[in-house]
Amino acid sequence: MFNPRDTIVRHIDPQAPDLAVIAEAADLLRRGKLVAFPTETVYGLGASALDESAVRSIFAAKGRPPNNPIIVHVADALAAQLLALNWPEQAAKLAERFWPGSLTLVLPKQPMVPDIVSAGSPTVGLRVPAHPVALALLQVADIPIAAPSANRSSQVSPTTADHVLRGLSGCLDMLLDAGPTSGGLESTVLDLTVDAPRLLRPGLVTVAEIEEVIGPIDVGVEPRGRANQLKSPGMLERHYAPRARLICIAPEDDVALRQALESVHQAGWLKLRTNSSLPVESNRLKIISMPSEVSQYSARLYAALHELDDADVELIVADLPPQSRDWLAVHDRLRRASHAGS
Ligand code: TXA
Ligand code: MG
Repeated sequence: MFNPRDTIVRHIDPQAPDLAVIAEAADLLRRGKLVAFPTETVYGLGASALDESAVRSIFAAKGRPPNNPIIVHVADALAAQLLALNWPEQAAKLAERFWPGSLTLVLPKQPMVPDIVSAGSPTVGLRVPAHPVALALLQVADIPIAAPSANRSSQVSPTTADHVLRGLSGCLDMLLDAGPTSGGLESTVLDLTVDAPRLLRPGLVTVAEIEEVIGPIDVGVEPRGRANQLKSPGMLERHYAPRARLICIAPEDDVALRQALESVHQAGWLKLRTNSSLPVESNRLKIISMPSEVSQYSARLYAALHELDDADVELIVADLPPQSRDWLAVHDRLRRASHAGS
Protein backbone atom coordinates (compact mmCIF):
# COMPACT_ATOMS: atom_id res chain seq x y z
CA MET A 1 0.00 0.00 0.00
CA PHE A 2 1.09 3.50 -0.21
CA ASN A 3 1.30 6.48 2.06
CA PRO A 4 -1.19 9.30 1.90
CA ARG A 5 0.54 12.49 0.86
CA ASP A 6 -0.34 16.13 1.49
CA THR A 7 -1.25 17.58 -1.85
CA ILE A 8 -0.13 21.17 -2.43
CA VAL A 9 -2.54 22.89 -4.83
CA ARG A 10 -1.19 25.88 -6.78
CA HIS A 11 -3.35 28.01 -9.06
CA ILE A 12 -1.50 28.98 -12.17
CA ASP A 13 -2.33 31.14 -15.19
CA PRO A 14 -2.83 28.82 -18.18
CA GLN A 15 -1.46 31.35 -20.65
CA ALA A 16 1.33 33.00 -18.64
CA PRO A 17 2.46 30.50 -15.98
CA ASP A 18 4.22 31.93 -12.94
CA LEU A 19 7.77 30.64 -13.20
CA ALA A 20 8.25 30.50 -9.41
CA VAL A 21 5.39 27.98 -9.20
CA ILE A 22 6.74 26.06 -12.19
CA ALA A 23 10.17 25.92 -10.51
CA GLU A 24 8.61 24.52 -7.33
CA ALA A 25 6.78 21.80 -9.30
CA ALA A 26 9.86 21.04 -11.40
CA ASP A 27 11.94 20.64 -8.26
CA LEU A 28 9.44 18.14 -6.83
CA LEU A 29 9.50 16.14 -10.08
CA ARG A 30 13.29 16.05 -10.08
CA ARG A 31 13.15 14.71 -6.54
CA GLY A 32 10.93 11.77 -7.53
CA LYS A 33 7.59 13.28 -6.46
CA LEU A 34 4.22 13.20 -8.22
CA VAL A 35 2.86 16.40 -9.79
CA ALA A 36 -0.46 16.64 -11.62
CA PHE A 37 -0.51 19.25 -14.37
CA PRO A 38 -2.79 20.39 -17.20
CA THR A 39 -2.22 19.46 -20.81
CA GLU A 40 -4.40 20.60 -23.70
CA THR A 41 -6.19 17.20 -23.60
CA VAL A 42 -6.72 16.19 -19.95
CA TYR A 43 -4.77 16.61 -16.69
CA GLY A 44 -1.78 14.26 -16.36
CA LEU A 45 -0.22 12.67 -13.27
CA GLY A 46 3.47 13.29 -13.80
CA ALA A 47 6.70 11.80 -12.50
CA SER A 48 10.26 11.80 -13.80
CA ALA A 49 10.25 9.24 -16.62
CA LEU A 50 13.84 8.30 -15.82
CA ASP A 51 13.14 7.54 -12.16
CA GLU A 52 11.85 3.99 -11.79
CA SER A 53 10.60 4.38 -8.25
CA ALA A 54 8.76 7.63 -9.05
CA VAL A 55 7.04 5.91 -11.97
CA ARG A 56 6.15 3.02 -9.67
CA SER A 57 4.29 5.47 -7.46
CA ILE A 58 2.18 6.55 -10.46
CA PHE A 59 1.01 2.94 -10.85
CA ALA A 60 0.25 2.78 -7.12
CA ALA A 61 -1.64 6.11 -7.06
CA LYS A 62 -3.82 5.16 -10.02
CA GLY A 63 -4.26 1.49 -9.22
CA ARG A 64 -3.00 1.01 -12.75
CA PRO A 65 -2.40 -2.52 -14.08
CA PRO A 66 1.37 -3.04 -14.48
CA ASN A 67 0.95 -4.13 -18.11
CA ASN A 68 -0.26 -0.68 -19.20
CA PRO A 69 2.56 1.55 -20.52
CA ILE A 70 2.72 5.27 -19.73
CA ILE A 71 3.17 8.11 -22.23
CA VAL A 72 6.38 10.10 -21.87
CA HIS A 73 6.00 13.86 -22.34
CA VAL A 74 8.91 15.85 -23.70
CA ALA A 75 9.57 19.53 -24.45
CA ASP A 76 10.22 19.15 -28.18
CA ALA A 77 10.95 16.73 -31.02
CA LEU A 78 14.67 16.80 -30.25
CA ALA A 79 14.04 15.57 -26.71
CA ALA A 80 11.79 12.84 -28.16
CA GLN A 81 14.55 11.67 -30.51
CA LEU A 82 16.87 11.15 -27.54
CA LEU A 83 14.45 8.59 -26.08
CA ALA A 84 13.72 6.71 -29.32
CA LEU A 85 16.04 4.13 -30.87
CA ASN A 86 15.21 5.41 -34.32
CA TRP A 87 13.41 8.37 -35.78
CA PRO A 88 11.69 7.38 -39.02
CA GLU A 89 10.70 9.97 -41.60
CA GLN A 90 7.06 9.48 -40.64
CA ALA A 91 7.87 10.50 -37.06
CA ALA A 92 9.69 13.58 -38.30
CA LYS A 93 6.78 14.62 -40.50
CA LEU A 94 4.13 13.99 -37.86
CA ALA A 95 6.12 15.77 -35.14
CA GLU A 96 6.63 18.73 -37.46
CA ARG A 97 2.91 18.95 -38.20
CA PHE A 98 1.31 18.07 -34.84
CA TRP A 99 3.75 18.90 -32.02
CA PRO A 100 3.17 20.49 -29.66
CA GLY A 101 -0.18 18.73 -29.80
CA SER A 102 -2.43 15.79 -29.17
CA LEU A 103 -0.60 13.00 -30.98
CA THR A 104 1.41 10.30 -29.19
CA LEU A 105 3.96 8.41 -31.31
CA VAL A 106 4.99 4.89 -30.28
CA LEU A 107 8.60 4.14 -31.24
CA PRO A 108 11.30 1.64 -30.23
CA LYS A 109 12.74 2.88 -26.93
CA GLN A 110 16.27 3.69 -25.83
CA PRO A 111 17.48 1.53 -22.91
CA MET A 112 17.56 4.64 -20.67
CA VAL A 113 13.74 4.59 -20.59
CA PRO A 114 12.99 2.32 -17.62
CA ASP A 115 11.05 -0.86 -18.43
CA ILE A 116 8.39 0.09 -15.93
CA VAL A 117 7.40 3.10 -18.10
CA SER A 118 6.81 0.91 -21.13
CA ALA A 119 5.35 -1.95 -19.06
CA GLY A 120 8.10 -4.23 -20.30
CA SER A 121 7.55 -3.54 -23.99
CA PRO A 122 10.51 -2.45 -26.13
CA THR A 123 8.64 0.69 -27.21
CA VAL A 124 7.87 4.12 -25.77
CA GLY A 125 4.92 6.47 -26.40
CA LEU A 126 6.12 10.06 -26.84
CA ARG A 127 4.28 13.34 -27.01
CA VAL A 128 4.91 17.10 -26.77
CA PRO A 129 1.85 18.59 -25.07
CA ALA A 130 0.42 21.91 -26.32
CA HIS A 131 -0.24 23.61 -22.99
CA PRO A 132 1.92 26.51 -21.77
CA VAL A 133 2.00 25.08 -18.21
CA ALA A 134 3.04 21.60 -19.35
CA LEU A 135 5.67 23.01 -21.70
CA ALA A 136 7.09 25.35 -19.06
CA LEU A 137 7.28 22.43 -16.61
CA LEU A 138 9.11 20.24 -19.15
CA GLN A 139 11.55 23.03 -19.98
CA VAL A 140 12.34 24.01 -16.40
CA ALA A 141 12.50 20.46 -15.01
CA ASP A 142 14.59 19.49 -18.03
CA ILE A 143 13.59 15.82 -17.74
CA PRO A 144 11.08 13.71 -19.67
CA ILE A 145 7.83 13.40 -17.70
CA ALA A 146 5.87 10.14 -17.63
CA ALA A 147 2.21 11.04 -17.22
CA PRO A 148 -0.97 9.05 -17.61
CA SER A 149 -4.31 10.81 -17.20
CA ALA A 150 -4.68 11.89 -13.55
CA ASN A 151 -7.57 9.62 -12.59
CA ARG A 152 -7.93 6.25 -10.87
CA SER A 153 -7.51 3.48 -13.41
CA SER A 154 -10.59 2.85 -15.61
CA GLN A 155 -12.42 5.95 -14.36
CA VAL A 156 -13.27 9.08 -16.31
CA SER A 157 -10.25 11.26 -17.15
CA PRO A 158 -9.99 14.69 -15.45
CA THR A 159 -10.52 17.91 -17.36
CA THR A 160 -10.38 20.11 -14.22
CA ALA A 161 -8.20 20.18 -11.10
CA ASP A 162 -11.27 19.38 -9.06
CA HIS A 163 -11.74 16.11 -11.00
CA VAL A 164 -8.11 15.23 -10.20
CA LEU A 165 -8.61 15.75 -6.47
CA ARG A 166 -11.82 13.74 -6.41
CA GLY A 167 -9.97 10.67 -7.66
CA LEU A 168 -6.45 11.12 -6.34
CA SER A 169 -6.52 13.39 -3.33
CA GLY A 170 -3.76 12.35 -0.93
CA CYS A 171 -1.99 10.38 -3.65
CA LEU A 172 0.09 13.16 -5.17
CA ASP A 173 2.46 15.84 -3.97
CA MET A 174 1.38 18.84 -6.05
CA LEU A 175 -1.43 19.83 -8.36
CA LEU A 176 -1.14 22.73 -10.79
CA ASP A 177 -4.64 24.12 -11.28
CA ALA A 178 -4.90 26.04 -14.54
CA GLY A 179 -8.65 25.69 -14.98
CA PRO A 180 -10.46 23.43 -17.44
CA THR A 181 -8.49 21.86 -20.29
CA SER A 182 -9.53 22.90 -23.78
CA GLY A 183 -9.40 19.58 -25.66
CA GLY A 184 -11.24 17.36 -23.19
CA LEU A 185 -10.35 13.97 -24.72
CA GLU A 186 -6.96 12.25 -24.73
CA SER A 187 -4.31 12.27 -27.43
CA THR A 188 -4.36 9.99 -30.45
CA VAL A 189 -1.89 7.08 -30.02
CA LEU A 190 -0.16 5.94 -33.23
CA ASP A 191 2.19 2.96 -33.43
CA LEU A 192 5.15 3.64 -35.74
CA THR A 193 6.98 0.39 -34.93
CA VAL A 194 5.00 -1.60 -37.49
CA ASP A 195 5.17 -1.49 -41.30
CA ALA A 196 1.85 0.28 -41.70
CA PRO A 197 1.44 2.86 -38.92
CA ARG A 198 -1.39 1.70 -36.72
CA LEU A 199 -3.92 3.61 -34.70
CA LEU A 200 -3.88 2.28 -31.12
CA ARG A 201 -6.24 4.87 -29.65
CA PRO A 202 -8.37 7.42 -31.52
CA GLY A 203 -8.02 10.88 -30.01
CA LEU A 204 -8.10 14.60 -30.69
CA VAL A 205 -5.93 14.43 -33.82
CA THR A 206 -8.14 12.72 -36.40
CA VAL A 207 -7.24 9.87 -38.75
CA ALA A 208 -7.90 12.18 -41.71
CA GLU A 209 -5.40 14.74 -40.36
CA ILE A 210 -2.73 12.04 -39.90
CA GLU A 211 -3.39 10.57 -43.34
CA GLU A 212 -2.94 14.00 -44.92
CA VAL A 213 0.66 13.91 -43.68
CA ILE A 214 1.79 10.26 -44.08
CA GLY A 215 -0.86 8.59 -46.25
CA PRO A 216 -3.13 5.67 -45.27
CA ILE A 217 -2.79 4.20 -41.78
CA ASP A 218 -4.16 1.02 -40.25
CA VAL A 219 -7.15 1.89 -38.10
CA GLY A 220 -7.90 -1.77 -37.30
CA VAL A 221 -10.54 -3.88 -39.04
CA GLU A 222 -12.85 -2.99 -36.25
CA PRO A 223 -12.09 -0.47 -33.52
CA ARG A 224 -12.67 -3.08 -30.84
CA GLY A 225 -10.00 -5.26 -32.55
CA ARG A 226 -8.24 -7.70 -30.29
CA ALA A 227 -4.87 -6.94 -31.81
CA ASN A 228 -5.08 -3.30 -30.79
CA GLN A 229 -5.97 -4.25 -27.27
CA LEU A 230 -3.00 -6.55 -26.96
CA LYS A 231 -0.66 -3.99 -28.44
CA SER A 232 -1.96 -1.19 -26.24
CA PRO A 233 -3.15 -2.88 -23.09
CA GLY A 234 -4.50 0.46 -21.88
CA MET A 235 -7.38 -0.03 -24.23
CA LEU A 236 -9.25 -2.31 -21.88
CA GLU A 237 -12.91 -2.54 -22.69
CA ARG A 238 -14.34 -0.85 -19.65
CA HIS A 239 -12.42 2.37 -19.41
CA TYR A 240 -13.25 6.04 -19.15
CA ALA A 241 -16.29 4.86 -17.19
CA PRO A 242 -18.56 6.87 -14.92
CA ARG A 243 -20.02 5.19 -11.82
CA ALA A 244 -23.49 5.28 -13.33
CA ARG A 245 -24.41 2.81 -16.07
CA LEU A 246 -24.22 4.45 -19.49
CA ILE A 247 -26.15 3.52 -22.61
CA CYS A 248 -26.20 5.07 -26.07
CA ILE A 249 -29.42 5.47 -28.01
CA ALA A 250 -29.90 6.45 -31.65
CA PRO A 251 -31.20 10.02 -31.79
CA GLU A 252 -34.29 9.04 -33.79
CA ASP A 253 -35.36 6.36 -31.31
CA ASP A 254 -37.69 8.24 -28.94
CA VAL A 255 -39.31 4.99 -27.75
CA ALA A 256 -36.03 3.48 -26.51
CA LEU A 257 -35.13 6.79 -24.89
CA ARG A 258 -38.39 6.95 -22.96
CA GLN A 259 -38.16 3.29 -21.90
CA ALA A 260 -34.61 3.71 -20.65
CA LEU A 261 -35.37 6.86 -18.71
CA GLU A 262 -38.50 5.35 -17.18
CA SER A 263 -36.58 2.28 -15.98
CA VAL A 264 -34.78 4.21 -13.21
CA HIS A 265 -35.57 6.77 -10.59
CA GLN A 266 -32.87 9.29 -11.52
CA ALA A 267 -31.29 9.53 -14.94
CA GLY A 268 -28.94 11.80 -16.79
CA TRP A 269 -29.28 12.60 -20.48
CA LEU A 270 -26.46 13.73 -22.76
CA LYS A 271 -28.81 15.33 -25.20
CA LEU A 272 -28.08 15.88 -28.87
CA ARG A 273 -31.54 15.45 -30.39
CA THR A 274 -33.23 18.77 -30.97
CA ASN A 275 -36.93 18.21 -31.44
CA SER A 276 -37.94 15.84 -28.68
CA SER A 277 -40.45 16.58 -25.97
CA LEU A 278 -39.41 15.91 -22.36
CA PRO A 279 -39.46 12.08 -22.08
CA VAL A 280 -40.07 11.87 -18.28
CA GLU A 281 -40.84 14.34 -15.49
CA SER A 282 -38.09 16.89 -15.10
CA ASN A 283 -37.41 16.11 -11.42
CA ARG A 284 -36.23 12.62 -12.42
CA LEU A 285 -33.97 13.78 -15.16
CA LYS A 286 -30.79 15.84 -15.36
CA ILE A 287 -30.34 17.05 -18.91
CA ILE A 288 -27.02 18.18 -20.30
CA SER A 289 -27.35 19.67 -23.78
CA MET A 290 -24.30 18.58 -25.71
CA PRO A 291 -22.75 20.69 -28.50
CA SER A 292 -23.35 19.34 -32.00
CA GLU A 293 -19.86 20.30 -33.16
CA VAL A 294 -17.31 17.55 -32.54
CA SER A 295 -14.49 19.46 -30.86
CA GLN A 296 -16.92 21.25 -28.55
CA TYR A 297 -18.62 17.94 -27.75
CA SER A 298 -15.23 16.37 -26.97
CA ALA A 299 -14.27 19.26 -24.70
CA ARG A 300 -17.54 18.85 -22.78
CA LEU A 301 -17.92 15.05 -22.55
CA TYR A 302 -15.82 14.10 -19.50
CA ALA A 303 -16.97 17.12 -17.49
CA ALA A 304 -20.56 16.13 -18.26
CA LEU A 305 -19.93 12.56 -17.06
CA HIS A 306 -18.34 13.89 -13.87
CA GLU A 307 -21.35 16.18 -13.31
CA LEU A 308 -23.82 13.33 -13.72
CA ASP A 309 -21.83 11.14 -11.33
CA ASP A 310 -21.91 13.99 -8.82
CA ALA A 311 -25.67 14.18 -9.22
CA ASP A 312 -25.78 10.46 -8.32
CA VAL A 313 -27.87 9.41 -11.31
CA GLU A 314 -28.34 5.65 -11.77
CA LEU A 315 -28.29 5.73 -15.54
CA ILE A 316 -26.79 7.99 -18.17
CA VAL A 317 -28.37 7.97 -21.60
CA ALA A 318 -26.27 9.44 -24.39
CA ASP A 319 -27.77 10.34 -27.75
CA LEU A 320 -25.51 8.62 -30.24
CA PRO A 321 -23.45 11.23 -32.14
CA PRO A 322 -23.10 11.20 -35.96
CA GLN A 323 -21.35 8.11 -37.39
CA SER A 324 -18.76 10.07 -39.39
CA ARG A 325 -15.01 9.46 -38.92
CA ASP A 326 -14.39 12.79 -37.17
CA TRP A 327 -16.41 11.44 -34.27
CA LEU A 328 -14.27 8.26 -33.93
CA ALA A 329 -12.68 9.24 -30.59
CA VAL A 330 -16.04 10.26 -29.09
CA HIS A 331 -17.65 6.98 -30.18
CA ASP A 332 -14.68 5.06 -28.78
CA ARG A 333 -14.98 6.73 -25.35
CA LEU A 334 -18.77 6.36 -25.23
CA ARG A 335 -18.49 2.69 -26.15
CA ARG A 336 -15.87 2.02 -23.49
CA ALA A 337 -17.78 4.01 -20.88
CA SER A 338 -20.86 1.94 -21.63
CA HIS A 339 -19.21 -1.45 -21.62
CA ALA A 340 -20.70 -3.50 -18.81
CA GLY A 341 -18.50 -5.65 -16.60
CA SER A 342 -14.98 -4.98 -15.43
O1 TXA B 1 -3.83 13.04 -23.81
C1 TXA B 1 -3.19 12.12 -23.28
O2 TXA B 1 -2.65 11.20 -23.94
C2 TXA B 1 -3.07 12.14 -21.75
C3 TXA B 1 -2.24 13.36 -21.35
C4 TXA B 1 -1.98 13.43 -19.87
O3 TXA B 1 -1.06 13.37 -22.07
N1 TXA B 1 -2.47 10.94 -21.27
C5 TXA B 1 -3.13 9.76 -21.29
O4 TXA B 1 -2.42 8.70 -20.73
O5 TXA B 1 -4.24 9.62 -21.74
P1 TXA B 1 -3.07 7.30 -20.34
O6 TXA B 1 -2.02 6.57 -19.62
O7 TXA B 1 -4.34 7.54 -19.64
O8 TXA B 1 -3.28 6.63 -21.74
C6 TXA B 1 -2.15 6.28 -22.50
C7 TXA B 1 -2.51 5.28 -23.57
C8 TXA B 1 -2.86 3.93 -22.97
O9 TXA B 1 -3.89 3.35 -23.74
C9 TXA B 1 -1.54 3.15 -23.15
O10 TXA B 1 -1.74 1.76 -23.24
C10 TXA B 1 -1.02 3.74 -24.46
O11 TXA B 1 -1.38 5.11 -24.41
N2 TXA B 1 0.44 3.65 -24.54
C11 TXA B 1 1.36 4.36 -23.85
N3 TXA B 1 2.62 3.95 -24.16
C12 TXA B 1 2.48 2.96 -25.06
C13 TXA B 1 3.40 2.09 -25.76
N4 TXA B 1 4.70 2.16 -25.55
N5 TXA B 1 2.87 1.15 -26.59
C14 TXA B 1 1.55 1.06 -26.80
N6 TXA B 1 0.63 1.83 -26.18
C15 TXA B 1 1.09 2.77 -25.32
MG1 MG C 1 -6.16 7.30 -18.95
